[in-house]
Amino acid sequence: MCGTKSFAFWLLQIIGLIGLLALCLWLALRPRRPNYTIMNFSVPSVNDSNASDHGIIQYELVIGNPNKNSGIYYDDIFLLFYHGVDKVGNNTFPSFYQSKYRNFRVLNHVDVDTPLWTALRSSILNATAELRVDLSTNIKYKTWGIKSKHHGSHGEGNIPIGKDGKISNNKKKVKLR
Ligand SMILES: *[C@@H]1O[C@H](CO)[C@@H](O)[C@H](O)[C@H]1NC(C)=O
Ligand SMILES: *[C@@H]1O[C@H](CO)[C@@H](O)[C@H](O)[C@H]1NC(C)=O
Ligand SMILES: *[C@@H]1O[C@H](CO)[C@@H](O)[C@H](O)[C@H]1NC(C)=O
Ligand SMILES: *[C@@H]1O[C@H](CO)[C@@H](O)[C@H](O)[C@H]1NC(C)=O
Ligand SMILES: *[C@@H]1O[C@H](CO)[C@@H](O)[C@H](O)[C@H]1NC(C)=O
Ligand SMILES: *[C@@H]1O[C@H](CO)[C@@H](O)[C@H](O)[C@H]1NC(C)=O
Repeated sequence: MCGTKSFAFWLLQIIGLIGLLALCLWLALRPRRPNYTIMNFSVPSVNDSNASDHGIIQYELVIGNPNKNSGIYYDDIFLLFYHGVDKVGNNTFPSFYQSKYRNFRVLNHVDVDTPLWTALRSSILNATAELRVDLSTNIKYKTWGIKSKHHGSHGEGNIPIGKDGKISNNKKKVKLR
């Protein structure tokens, strides 16, 4: 009687310990979300009188994988640029796999036609321009060879633009949250 009781107690302890270990392991391995940054941003043709009907927004997108134990599979990544309520352009980056703890960098540009360009250009010359960027994709983590299910991944940020056509904050970059 006493023997089975202490055996049951011992078993309970073991199960508790395994549970605790699993929890610790899960906490340690649980992947963190990737981070998205826009940098090297510029609108070069603001002062070019030949380019009054058409402008270009150049930028670099940096995607950081902060996980030392997980790679990340990205589906196609959609970037949308808004000036006020107007969509000024969009880009799509094809799906790819990012290894553990790596940065992915890519340069791209958006062409802006009139009348959106006319409005954007005059607000840049007025030093009141701000663009909103929306990023959306789906990702899967790969941790120790095991793929997770799909997660939506989104980011959003406001880019203040100075008269020089560059980001006018101190860091010269914008994190998408
Ligand atoms: C982007 O900016 C960083 C520093 O802000 C610089 O080191 C890097 O060379 C730039 N990349 C391009 C392609 O201009
Ligand atoms: C504008 O175009 C004219 C003729 O096509 C050219 O001579 C001039 O250098 C251009 N200006 C700029 C700023 O590119
Ligand atoms: C973004 O990811 C990179 C890994 O590529 C990491 O070094 C950096 O600390 C991360 N930034 C933030 C804010 O988590
Ligand atoms: C993205 O831009 C293309 C033209 O460049 C346009 O046809 C398409 O509708 C845009 N997509 C979105 C979601 O705005
Ligand atoms: C220029 O700036 C003023 C105030 O700073 C603002 O009232 C006006 O709407 C701006 N014009 C444009 C075209 O953005
Ligand atoms: C446009 O001209 C203004 C004034 O001359 C200057 O401050 C600004 O840097 C120029 N912008 C670009 C994109 O060259």
